[in-house]
Amino acid sequence: MRALCWNGVDDLRVETVPDPVLVNPRDAILRVSLSTTCGSDLHLINGYIPTMRAGDVIGHEFMGVVEEVGPEVKKVRKGDRVVVPSFICCGSCFYCASGKWSLCDNTNPNEEMQEPLLGGSTAGIYGYTHAFGGYAGSHAEYIRVPFADVDCFQVPDGVTDEQALFLSDAAPTGFMGADFCNIQRGQVVAVWGCGGVGLMAQKSAFLLGAERVIAIDRFPERLAMAQTHVGSETIDYTKVDSVVDQLQEMTGGRGPDACIDAVGMEAHGTGIGHAYDTVKQALRLETDRGSALREAIMAVRKGGVLSVLGVYGMMDKFPLGVLINKGITVRTAQQHGQAYVPRLLEYTAAGKLDASFLVTHRMPLEDAARGYAIFEKKQEGCVRSVFVPGASATPHA
Ligand SMILES: NC(=O)c1ccc[n+]([C@@H]2O[C@H](COP(=O)([O-])OP(=O)(O)OC[C@H]3O[C@@H](n4cnc5c(N)ncnc54)[C@H](O)[C@@H]3O)[C@@H](O)[C@H]2O)c1
Ligand SMILES: [Zn+2]
Ligand SMILES: [Zn+2]
Repeated sequence: MRALCWNGVDDLRVETVPDPVLVNPRDAILRVSLSTTCGSDLHLINGYIPTMRAGDVIGHEFMGVVEEVGPEVKKVRKGDRVVVPSFICCGSCFYCASGKWSLCDNTNPNEEMQEPLLGGSTAGIYGYTHAFGGYAGSHAEYIRVPFADVDCFQVPDGVTDEQALFLSDAAPTGFMGADFCNIQRGQVVAVWGCGGVGLMAQKSAFLLGAERVIAIDRFPERLAMAQTHVGSETIDYTKVDSVVDQLQEMTGGRGPDACIDAVGMEAHGTGIGHAYDTVKQALRLETDRGSALREAIMAVRKGGVLSVLGVYGMMDKFPLGVLINKGITVRTAQQHGQAYVPRLLEYTAAGKLDASFLVTHRMPLEDAARGYAIFEKKQEGCVRSVFVPGASATPHA
């Protein structure tokens, strides 16, 4: 089959690789209908997350049609149209049973690669590094889904492929981030980042009862999406002296009740702090550029919630003292998708959520390297490039 392979930093190519096969009796094989880019992929394309190997198939946000099931798969059938959360979960360990799905104890065969760094290990994830299990990803014609009965969610007839696609990763991540904020009626939530994750966090904050949502980014087309598709107020952080002061002004001097970081370790920024992070990250002395997270910590009101969705490694100058003195609750996780997908499918079927506006570019899988290039550089207004396996490549001049 054809698949998008990582061959080194900034070197992605669509190649022919072996078809996946059933390995365990509870596996299914899916024919991928749609697969899309995620900000988390940029960290590995740019070489900030180690343990990739040449030839790895990337991609973890996808939906498709079940092609084949193992003998112990009971609920899922050939022909089912399903969406699959990005973390692979067994459904029966201590963590899955308590709803902390991305912490599943049974799906990361390489936990010894994570334990020295984290003191524990995450679940496996599709199309990511070997420390996250080394599973083949979804930018391919077919994908193996372990624990199919746990991880495949049937898409109802009224929900389109493009709407279902983002319920794999961007939407449940954003929803979890808003859920962490314990939003009360009348509250104000600020969200750093207007990528797929940030936009979904903003939409979810409204679904969960926020009165106002304030979105922060620098790309005009993304800020416009936050306004028109979500109803957020916006701040272009390159146009104000201080985002923190601006937020104070917009909230009667108090600050937002909750702040969500949907940016992560490759934050763009201004000033001396950002210059310091950029140099240290380039020299691999620090893994993160933390300007958005530090700003969120300064901006959140006393006693408020900081919800961190952006992915980070080891950050310097993390202002723990600010969190302590302001009595901030910090909530964070990799997405617990299986906890949220049924509810998000219901919202979608009922017309309360339509994530398909994130599709700015739809192209054949053969063009996936170009799809990542424009996504990475935020060119042509790209928010998410969506790949269609099997479609023929676009001829280039
Ligand atoms: N926790 C999870 O399970 C999970 C799941 C998916 C993605 N993520 C993470 O969420 C983050 C966002 O993902 P995405 O797909 O939306 O990425 P994206 O690259 O499409 O969007 C990131 C946005 O952040 C903006 N940004 C950069 N610096 C900023 C700053 N200082 N202030 C405000 N905005 C700033 C960028 O302009 C961009 O629009 C990434 O770190 C990704 O790894 C986490
Ligand atoms: Zn992702
Ligand atoms: Zn489990």
